[in-house]
Amino acid sequence: MKPRLPTFVSALPAAAADPAVELTAGLLAPAAVVSPKFLYDRLGSALFVAITELPEYYPTRTEAAILAAHESEIARSVEPWLPPGFALVDLGAGDGAKAARLFRPLKPGRYVAVDISEGFLQPALAALQQRHPDIDMIGVGLDFSRRLALPAGVLQSPALVFYPGSSIGNFGPDEALRLLREAHAMSCGGALLIGADLTKPASQLQDAYDDPLGVTAAFNLNLLRHANQILGSDFNVRDWRHVALWNSAQARVEMHLEARRGLTVRWPGAERAFAAGERIHTENSHKWEAAAFESLLRDAGWRHVQRWTDPAGWFGVFLARA
Ligand code: AVJ
Repeated sequence: MKPRLPTFVSALPAAAADPAVELTAGLLAPAAVVSPKFLYDRLGSALFVAITELPEYYPTRTEAAILAAHESEIARSVEPWLPPGFALVDLGAGDGAKAARLFRPLKPGRYVAVDISEGFLQPALAALQQRHPDIDMIGVGLDFSRRLALPAGVLQSPALVFYPGSSIGNFGPDEALRLLREAHAMSCGGALLIGADLTKPASQLQDAYDDPLGVTAAFNLNLLRHANQILGSDFNVRDWRHVALWNSAQARVEMHLEARRGLTVRWPGAERAFAAGERIHTENSHKWEAAAFESLLRDAGWRHVQRWTDPAGWFGVFLARA
């Protein structure tokens, strides 16, 4: 028998968003900023998987424990909301490991894995397809940071949108609301299963986002190599340092890259001088009060919101109906 292969659809780059143009605009802004989506090239996605193994990085394993503890209840809740053989749409699928743990309890007929990093997604999905030959698998290379919509034909009936890991935290409240509305439309009257990291003491956040092994630092610094690849720029990783800080006013952890000395970065058509200590803002990771996140879901049109947390209340898993 021939091995079953997943279908692959590339919706990259989205027509209006040339990554080089977007990167250049951010790097030339008075306060330099680069979207966290540029953290995820092939190496960046692998470094993120390494982060999830760190003892200090609690979100991934806390969420996995919540999902494992409540999988039957989640399956019972969604069952009446979705048709048999429904599609499980995984936003920011990465290696697909989180979604794969839901295959047995939820029994989707189709798995739609969406990720910006095609180079990482493609081999991961092919491997997953070998282990689950009965599930119809579709990989979609997509940057949904501006607009979340799947190519025509991928979804025709109510689907379960899965957005785990608190990746929603990369968006501020306004953008998160927009994304959750788009997810609502995309689900075709289905459901949403989403993870959100909850507010907690700053010291714990500091260790999670600036780990002693320096894996998070490597993850952040790798963005400079990815930028070099996209722009043809001459960032020297050794000139930069990883900074993670808690912004209490905005309830978010911020990652920055800080210039260790005064320097100029050059790429075709542009250059940018950085003073020693000047930073490039590379990520926001918003933390939520559970009740506020439920309100956000309702504002985005989601109903019947249910919530599960771990005993310490570090992380929330939310289920809602369209
Ligand atoms: C993948 C966006 C959920 O914000 O915790 C991990 C990324 N950044 N360490 C997060 C990340 C630094 C992660 N998300």
